[in-house]
Amino acid sequence: MSRVAHPAGPLHGDVLPADHPPAPPADLNALPAAIWPRGARRSDDGVLTLAGTDVRELAGQFGTPLYVCDEQDVRSRCRDYMEAFGPEARVFYAAKAFCSRAVLRWVSAEGLGVDVCTGGELEIALSAGVPPEQITMHGNNKTQDELAGAIAAGIGHIVADSFAEIARLSYLTDGATHHPNVLVRVTTGVEAHTHEFMATAHDDQKFGFSLASGAADEAVRRVLASPGLAFAGLHSHIGSQIFDTAGFEVAAHRVVELAVRIRDEHGVEIAELDLGGGFGIAYTEEDDAPEIKDIAQSLRQIVDWQCRGAGLAVPRLTIEPGRGIVGPSMVTLYTVGTIKDVDGLRTYVSVDGGMSDNIRTALYDASYECALASRSSSAPPMLSRVVGRHCESGDIVVRNAYLPADLATGDLLAVPATGAYCRSMASNYNHVPRPAVVAVRTGADPAVIVRRETLDDLLKLDVG
Ligand code: LLP
Repeated sequence: MSRVAHPAGPLHGDVLPADHPPAPPADLNALPAAIWPRGARRSDDGVLTLAGTDVRELAGQFGTPLYVCDEQDVRSRCRDYMEAFGPEARVFYAAKAFCSRAVLRWVSAEGLGVDVCTGGELEIALSAGVPPEQITMHGNNKTQDELAGAIAAGIGHIVADSFAEIARLSYLTDGATHHPNVLVRVTTGVEAHTHEFMATAHDDQKFGFSLASGAADEAVRRVLASPGLAFAGLHSHIGSQIFDTAGFEVAAHRVVELAVRIRDEHGVEIAELDLGGGFGIAYTEEDDAPEIKDIAQSLRQIVDWQCRGAGLAVPRLTIEPGRGIVGPSMVTLYTVGTIKDVDGLRTYVSVDGGMSDNIRTALYDASYECALASRSSSAPPMLSRVVGRHCESGDIVVRNAYLPADLATGDLLAVPATGAYCRSMASNYNHVPRPAVVAVRTGADPAVIVRRETLDDLLKLDVG
């Protein structure tokens, strides 16, 4: 017998599922404000409209599955962050959440900078016209070419993530006249309360320099010793989809302690403190996401209070929200296909997308809600599981959904809060082309901002 545990855990085929679904909502047609885009409404005849556009028209014109992005929602969230953190702070949108030229233009026009973590994201940001000095580059394994490209483009900041990278950066800037600003990414040892794959500040993971081992202090020494590099300050990102603000506070506290040591050892005060992103959003009605203005207030207070206590000038604060800007702004529209009753358990509702356009349910056991979008219904609730069209039983979009019992093939379903890490993590599993993204804005025609892939696109890649 193998001594290695099976990755699926103990045998569970003959026991009833442990996850008891929540009670059905009082009103199946409701659109709770915390999880739907700000421009979502039901028309008088019960159809979901997004920024005034009827979803049946969107599906008819652009097909399904379809990501629909409410531009005014994105812009308003940019303003919320800017206002919460105040004019002295900087807000950089983390493009990994969703990276397209249109969205980067909107956030840039709202005064945000852009955070990229690959040469690909950098290329999109530059081609969107984001000013290079308003771009920060992250990444635990940036290639020499990516670093050289970032330096040549004159981007504002590079976040150093390893000793090898500091050596590469020193080599690339040896004798150069332009000295890139470098932030040292610190691993604070904070165990962020989130999914294991999204926590980034405990010691046993791949990002940054450990505070506990002294690696962070050593990284600062090496950056300061590199004549081609301008040491700008420190960076910390503890993880993503975090609700408990205590983690941010402890991380801020520890990073400022390092800033004090840097001042004492080198006589250098950090100019900038980047506290990363990770601010959680509501995906379901049960999620109680913290208010961004409360997070902003407590972070500012901690940094101010601690710096003043240590006689340190308060550094310029930067934050990097991705999900918080774009997550709630999009919904995914699907067309209902097969509806299958699994006796005594639930109804399986198959839609025309799935894990290729939203891997988050399968990967993180993420919870979503969904609603009948093409009409309203007064039929009783039916416990459902919304599943995709892929050849895998883990291909689940919404694990527990209450949908009206009169749901029929051809109805449209809408899944809210799919703006972050859905299109950006989409795949072509089973050779399914990736959906388009359409932007809607009150008073304007819907506009495709990322076109739908075609089978021809997929065939072109297959050159064998
Ligand atoms: N800054 C850094 C250095 C990051 O690594 C991230 C996210 C962010 C900012 C933005 O975090 P946000 O505000 O979006 O939480 N694929 C996962 C999320 C991975 C996050 C990676 N880093 C998901 O689908 O939930």
